[in-house]
Amino acid sequence: MSTPPPVPDAVTGAPARVVVLVSGSGTNLQALLDAAVDPAYGARIVAVGADREGIEGLARADRSNVPTFVASLKDFSSREAWDKALADKVDAFEPDLVVLAGFMKLVGPHFLERFEGRVVNTHPALCPSFPGVNGPGDALAYGVKVTGATLFVVDAGVDTGPIVAQTVVPVEDDDDVSALHERIKVAERQMLVDNVGRLAREGFRITDRKVRFGL
Ligand code: GAR
Repeated sequence: MSTPPPVPDAVTGAPARVVVLVSGSGTNLQALLDAAVDPAYGARIVAVGADREGIEGLARADRSNVPTFVASLKDFSSREAWDKALADKVDAFEPDLVVLAGFMKLVGPHFLERFEGRVVNTHPALCPSFPGVNGPGDALAYGVKVTGATLFVVDAGVDTGPIVAQTVVPVEDDDDVSALHERIKVAERQMLVDNVGRLAREGFRITDRKVRFGL
């Protein structure tokens, strides 16, 4: 992956424009919405998008008076058409950074080309372990003693992009998937808020897969 352009607002001092994409309950989104109330946070959530209607994530955005949009795969004739429409909808809000926060679809080539190096995703496992849609369940089934969450810059693979940050949580003997995922999400929200703020305020660069803050 080439080095991304700096987040422009790290240069101008204006809050970075952030679009967040969600598919479900949106507790990670809520943490970002709450953090962004403080102008010193350095990022403003300018829109929230989803791949389905009627989810709590969209309701959270509504309650914060943040504009929302939906691009549902079933409304398009092909995955490619959906990918392009999603990119167009996000682009309309001129984001400096796009945050996938519980967005349960893979974005495609149009999307990645449009926002190259400016899309980050949070995944509930320690990458490169347990990629995909069932990170907590796969970690539990494997029997690991620690797991966690990873914030990474999205590339064309499944949870394979350069890592911005990771946070570790223990797996307890009596965990089920739900208990483990909830423990991960507590740590994940803090990691997301801390690091999206830093990306916005400081900018970042990628060399040999290593993500470093600063321009
Ligand atoms: C989060 O744990 C996020 O990492 C995960 O979905 C959860 C969304 O929670 N995403 C993935 O598994 C993507 N592969 P939230 O809707 O409460 O923020």
